[in-house]
Amino acid sequence: MKSSVVVGLQWGDEGKGKVVDQLAQRYDAIVRFNGGGNAGHTVVVSNEKKVFHVLPSAALWKKKLYIGAGVVVDPESLAQELSQNPVNVMVDYRCGLITPLEKWLDKRLEELRGAGAIGTTGRGIGPAYADRMLRVLPRVLDVVYGNGHDLSIMRMLIGDGWDVTNEWLDMSRRVLSPIAGDVPESLSSIYEKGGSILFEGAQGALLDITYGTYPYVTSSNTVASYVGVGAGFPVSKIDEVIGVAKLYVTRVGAGPFPTEIAGGLSEKMRSKGGEYGSTTGRPRRVGWLDLVALKYAVSLNEPGKLRLVLTKADVLTGLGDLKAAVAYNVDGKESSNFIDAMLGKSVKPVYESFDPIPEVDWGSVMKGGWDVAPRQLRKFVDFVQDYLKVEVAEVSVGPQRGMNVELR
Ligand code: GDP
Ligand code: IMO
Ligand code: MG
Repeated sequence: MKSSVVVGLQWGDEGKGKVVDQLAQRYDAIVRFNGGGNAGHTVVVSNEKKVFHVLPSAALWKKKLYIGAGVVVDPESLAQELSQNPVNVMVDYRCGLITPLEKWLDKRLEELRGAGAIGTTGRGIGPAYADRMLRVLPRVLDVVYGNGHDLSIMRMLIGDGWDVTNEWLDMSRRVLSPIAGDVPESLSSIYEKGGSILFEGAQGALLDITYGTYPYVTSSNTVASYVGVGAGFPVSKIDEVIGVAKLYVTRVGAGPFPTEIAGGLSEKMRSKGGEYGSTTGRPRRVGWLDLVALKYAVSLNEPGKLRLVLTKADVLTGLGDLKAAVAYNVDGKESSNFIDAMLGKSVKPVYESFDPIPEVDWGSVMKGGWDVAPRQLRKFVDFVQDYLKVEVAEVSVGPQRGMNVELR
């Protein structure tokens, strides 16, 4: 009996999809608990690439999949994803539904923000969570059981420009009726029978609506403890948290990014790491590993139960000297608190430098184990481990399933 949570510890796209796919074979059920179709989780098997948006990234394993009530679901894109991945999935009755109104609002709000736009994925995520708080968002059960859902108040509030038609309602009912269910009850039953459950977080700690770089964040909580709300599963029963972080950092969309790299080197890293959004195709901003930010993310994700998977080590080879931020210089004073990056002050990273990692045959490292990994990489990873005081379980060295090296 085991329950584990995979979460991102940066601004998303850390490689959670790959990690979940690899772990999934050892679990009975895999569960999404936050976000929605803004997520893009990539799995690569035998050179074939799959990107999951609202389905858990375990779709290739024929396991039971769940979408918890903390997720907002767009029935149209769920239908599309299901047509490409015929899986056994249950969607909680209480999931909020993204209607054409929320997608329209997402676009409209971004237009109105102008130069201050967040750079959302345009999937209607923010408006959907907001409308749920306003108690106007339809849920799965409202559509499936025809509880009725009066959107006329929203029309009075914001006028036309969007439409929730009968066709949309019919389509949603068709998609959701066969798969709607009570996720907390199912998870509890699996757990009581000794089954194991893997929770798959979307986005990353620095995009958390409460603890992230607000307003440049997503609209759900992205930290491990949100499993309690987003999946209706007791937090006290979580055995371990697997925090995923890149050995450098990327961010899509606007917002503070203290260690961002400008110019040629960032282009080189973007192209080597394939750093383009899995959902929107936008180029990701690239920067050095920020240990101040990562320490903050660790502190928010059950540090006593947390182990790290560090990804994309292969992208760091052949780049010259490497850097990691170990503190910030804030108006002339040194700080090691990420909150300083959120206070609107001028924040300059204080870097530690590391020797270049030479090109290497990762196949032989995967065979020979961590001890035969380049010593420069081992030193870099040891430094991260010591700084964060958290165990690194594994280092990922390529996008393909299986391209990783365990540390012990
Ligand atoms: P997620 O949102 O956290 O699941 O991450 P994404 O799938 O959006 O982005 C991660 C990208 O990096 C994907 O293209 C993965 O295939 C790729 N990837 C994951 N791990 C590694 C790795 O160790 N090395 C390299 N080169 N690519 C990786
Ligand atoms: P995964 O799960 C990276 C970012 C968007 C934007 C902000 C708000 O693949 O790691 P939203 O559409 O959520 O209102 O956008 O959050 N964002 C992500 N960035 N990875 C993601 O998901 C993201 N989901 C949202 O780029 O800056
Ligand atoms: Mg992604």
